[in-house]
Amino acid sequence: MDHFLYRGGVLHAEGVALPQIAASVGTPFYVYSTATLTRHYQLFHDALGDLPHLVCFSVKSLSNIAVLKTLAGLGAGMDVVSGGEYRRARAAGVPGDNIVFSGVGKTVEEMRLTLDGGIRQFNVESEAEMAALNAVALSMGKVAPITVRVNPDVDAKTHAKIATGKKENKFGIPISRAREVYALAASLPGLRVVGVDVHIGSQLTDLAPFAQAFEKLAELVVQLRADGHGIERLDLGGGLGIPYAQSNDTPPLPQDYGALVREKLGHLGCEIEIEPGRLISGNAGLLVASVIYAKSGEERDFLILDAAMNDLVRPSMYDAHHDVVPVIEPAPASERHSYDVVGPVCETGDTFARGRALPLLDAGDLVAFRSAGAYGAVMASEYNTRPLVPEVLVHGDHYAVIRERPSYEEILGRDRLPAWLDDSRKDA
Ligand code: LLP
Repeated sequence: MDHFLYRGGVLHAEGVALPQIAASVGTPFYVYSTATLTRHYQLFHDALGDLPHLVCFSVKSLSNIAVLKTLAGLGAGMDVVSGGEYRRARAAGVPGDNIVFSGVGKTVEEMRLTLDGGIRQFNVESEAEMAALNAVALSMGKVAPITVRVNPDVDAKTHAKIATGKKENKFGIPISRAREVYALAASLPGLRVVGVDVHIGSQLTDLAPFAQAFEKLAELVVQLRADGHGIERLDLGGGLGIPYAQSNDTPPLPQDYGALVREKLGHLGCEIEIEPGRLISGNAGLLVASVIYAKSGEERDFLILDAAMNDLVRPSMYDAHHDVVPVIEPAPASERHSYDVVGPVCETGDTFARGRALPLLDAGDLVAFRSAGAYGAVMASEYNTRPLVPEVLVHGDHYAVIRERPSYEEILGRDRLPAWLDDSRKDA
């Protein structure tokens, strides 16, 4: 459920009509709903109920500081995968103690930054990384709290580009080798083992792969404890999928996920950490665009928008489906037209959707891509020198721009001419 509904025939974000935002901000823009972010965070929090837990929002899915601050205010921790994301979380006021650091290639600089600023734990993904972290921690006179990310070799049954828990993936340490790697960790004085971490993939629409992974994890915890390791926390990663096509997707609900966690892992007495991204932010955001032209081709009709693949890359990168809806609600019985919805970038891949049934639309009409909050703005680029799309946060009847559209001066101003091309410096 989200808070983007037609009211009086006009699509609103909570209490704000989208044409009002379009008129002041210009299109395209991303718009997020505070109420939806809050509701989705709360679903996870409630689903884990009385199990000791921390819901660490996966910053990579939507990293605007205003969004992070909204969630942190509800008690959320953060899951970060870079020094940049760590800085964002801290700028949003999240204490280091509530930040977990995931990722397959943490650099020495990132280790220093986070050890210095405070960190809940590092989810370590290789022996090489373990050795590096040990050395950095010792050099700083600190002890780094760690989990090891184990790769349970389960098939997450999701898009190949976002499955992470199979043995051929680059992530984690094979679960079969976990005991020897934990023994190594215990021998390193700069590290303190606090738990185990697993993340098997993203946009999972079935609980079965989670069940398999959790069962393997439970067995491992028993073995590791018998080996003498203090396993106090289980980080279960993120990955719960969302309904992208409102008409027919029915992924499992957070409460079912919570019940599964309790069933498979509740008896271990561990604190549970989860790292949901998409389920909190995905349906909390829209990308709103204008039609530049409607164009009739020989075989197909096109809606050419002012948003493009650089603004929302998921359709061209993962063949992802996003519902496209007109901002002005069509009359129920009005005629529908089949459109290919495309952007203006010079690539056939710049296609958002093919053969979508929409009312007749024309230049200047507004459309919205649903479920664009996660992996939307964060994956945008300036390809074709198209400025990054601004972000807007709605809260009840209020809205605010939480990231400005950069000016062309800013964009061009980042480039530098070397002396041999710079006419003003050539003779110097
Ligand atoms: N934890 C770890 C270690 C992760 O790698 C990820 C996502 C998450 C948590 C959050 O997963 P979520 O709850 O959002 O599924 N760009 C792709 C998705 C990439 C996901 C990468 N890892 C997309 O647009 O579908």
